[in-house]
Amino acid sequence: MHNVMNDDLVLVMDHPLITHKLTQIRKQETGTNEFRKIVNEIAGLMVYEITRDLELEEIEIDTPVEKTKAGQLAGEKLVVCPILRAGLGMVDGILQLMPSARIGHIGLYRDEETLQPVEYFAKFPSKLDERLVIVVDPMLATGGSAIAAIDLVKKRGVKNIKFVCLVAAPEGVRALRKAHSDVPIITAGLDEKLNDKGYIVPGLGDAGDRIFGTK
Ligand code: URA
Repeated sequence: MHNVMNDDLVLVMDHPLITHKLTQIRKQETGTNEFRKIVNEIAGLMVYEITRDLELEEIEIDTPVEKTKAGQLAGEKLVVCPILRAGLGMVDGILQLMPSARIGHIGLYRDEETLQPVEYFAKFPSKLDERLVIVVDPMLATGGSAIAAIDLVKKRGVKNIKFVCLVAAPEGVRALRKAHSDVPIITAGLDEKLNDKGYIVPGLGDAGDRIFGTK
């Protein structure tokens, strides 16, 4: 894990296992089945870091040997919020490790005239403002969708938000840090740049198409 952007709130999880799996999904010959499986595996491996600062409470329990005090997660269950559609590809992997997490959904489309993301669907669990909300999208490209999704969550009173992606472009990281300086960004890889079509370079292509087998 390191801090390539010289910014405490940008975490690149360049753990060997994560980097290896990211390389597999970057390959153009990796098919839908494998791609989908590995996206979930990477998302699952990232949970350890995403949840590092969750609060614990002490409870009293009986082990087979004696009574003791032990820690358990405190407070409301956290919420995983995929940005539709590609974000859905990361949800199952996260749920493998946190089966009680709640799921919100954020649907955004890009207005063809203004080029700005517009909300078309949003559904969240109750008490959203009391929960940690993890917004997920495999690709942080321009940052437009991530910024709009986090705007939308903040409008509902949420204070504790993290953004998690698989591949980030420096342009997207900068834009998101500028718009939401309080939101940590956790990514499996940080790439070189965006190309003139808005793809991350070298990237992995269109994550949504590769997860869902569409073109
Ligand atoms: N969205 C993708 O799916 N891929 C990119 O490279 C950029 C945005």
